[in-house]
Amino acid sequence: MADRYLNFTGTAPGRFLTRKLGLPQPSALHRWSPERPHLEGELLHLTAGGESPHTAELTSVLARTHLTPTPGSSRPTAVVLDATGLRDTPDLALVHAALHPVVRSVAENGRVVVLGAPVSPSDHHQAAAQQALEGFVRSLGKELGRGRTATLVRMRSAAAAESTLRFLLSPRSAYVSGQVIEVGEAEHGPLDWDRPLAGRTALVTGAARGIGEAVAEVLARDGAQVVVLDVPSARQDLVRVAERLGGTALALDITADDAGERMASALAPGGLDVLVHNAGITRDRKLANMPADRWNPVLDVNLTSVLRTTDALLKSGTLNRGGSVVATASIAGMAGNVGQTNYAASKAGIIGLVRALAPGALEEYGVSVNAVAPGFIETKMTAAVPLFIREAGRRMNSLGQGGLPVDVAETTAWLSSPASAAVTGQTIRVCGQSLLGA
Ligand SMILES: NC(=O)c1ccc[n+]([C@@H]2O[C@H](COP(=O)([O-])OP(=O)(O)OC[C@H]3O[C@@H](n4cnc5c(N)ncnc54)[C@H](O)[C@@H]3O)[C@@H](O)[C@H]2O)c1
Repeated sequence: MADRYLNFTGTAPGRFLTRKLGLPQPSALHRWSPERPHLEGELLHLTAGGESPHTAELTSVLARTHLTPTPGSSRPTAVVLDATGLRDTPDLALVHAALHPVVRSVAENGRVVVLGAPVSPSDHHQAAAQQALEGFVRSLGKELGRGRTATLVRMRSAAAAESTLRFLLSPRSAYVSGQVIEVGEAEHGPLDWDRPLAGRTALVTGAARGIGEAVAEVLARDGAQVVVLDVPSARQDLVRVAERLGGTALALDITADDAGERMASALAPGGLDVLVHNAGITRDRKLANMPADRWNPVLDVNLTSVLRTTDALLKSGTLNRGGSVVATASIAGMAGNVGQTNYAASKAGIIGLVRALAPGALEEYGVSVNAVAPGFIETKMTAAVPLFIREAGRRMNSLGQGGLPVDVAETTAWLSSPASAAVTGQTIRVCGQSLLGA
């Protein structure tokens, strides 16, 4: 359903009227398209304190983002602040000194990316200074407006963070703001950045429509051979998606006891590189009014079958080394929502699953495990929400608008890339920095 308010505020009278009335003024976001695949403009690379062991490597990574590195730019599209060197709280003055003079001039749809170091468990001064960056970035994201976003990346090396920086400094991350992303040290081999999934097979559940269809489309754009899965009753739409993307349709209910085995045999002999658990359902009702037949299916589809099929595909060796699993949580799983005790429980369970599985999956199977947590995304599901609640969902985030399925898809594609091997155990919100939840 079209966001008429967003369209209206994009016109001169709309801007005038909404400014006079003090109403939100969302900017049309610059998303990836073949015509405009990169953010355009200058990139300002700053270092809090003037020195960082990452400077040389970071400079060459940033030079590959397609933005123009310009020292002292007065109107940057992106500002990257290396704050990895903060050791103690007086150093936080350096963050203010670096960003205060430039923040006002960051262009519409621009990015502020702050780079931090892992928070030390044993040095409480370093921990205080580095954790402070989290509150700083989340507040800045709420202040920036005009389609601009702020993100904190905690990194150990600029090389391992390259795929994350490329994502954040591109139109692909248009609806991701206020996030804290931890990047580890895993290395990756050479790859084609335009088609990072070339030669790889990706399975997307719930791909007959909505977000899943968009995920399959973006993974195919990035070079993957896609297998799209949905319930047998959605077969017609599923086949249409598969044909459009040159992929394969697999009509299967993921709650079937043997779903994992049937996926494995459909994927033999080459196995699977990217597993996207997107299928999900809601059966909303307040707990006091919720019979078990509305509770159980939600837990079963959204959580238990994700566990069961992931275990089956890992244990059978179907998921190839260097592969990735991306599951779908929701901001409801973090903030809670009236009428969604079942749904929020299932989505919070996904976050627990990802956190606990990630370290062992990397060590034993060489696979990364992450989740995306969408906020308000414009789909058939949200078009059915009553108007007032829908408007609240759209506006109550830092970007003042709903996301599109492609926003979740782009985030999934970044997490699925072999270049993102160093990102694991994370739940990344795709919510325009929704005011709900942390
Ligand atoms: N739309 C949003 O704003 C939003 C917000 C947060 C999270 N999410 C999550 O994103 C995912 C996709 O959401 P959507 O809005 O595209 O939903 P959707 O209802 O449009 O699509 C979900 C798909 O999953 C399929 N599916 C359901 N049960 C299945 C089963 N047992 N086996 C196989 N396939 C099954 C459905 O047939 C459907 O095609 C879901 O996990 C949802 O919970 C969506």
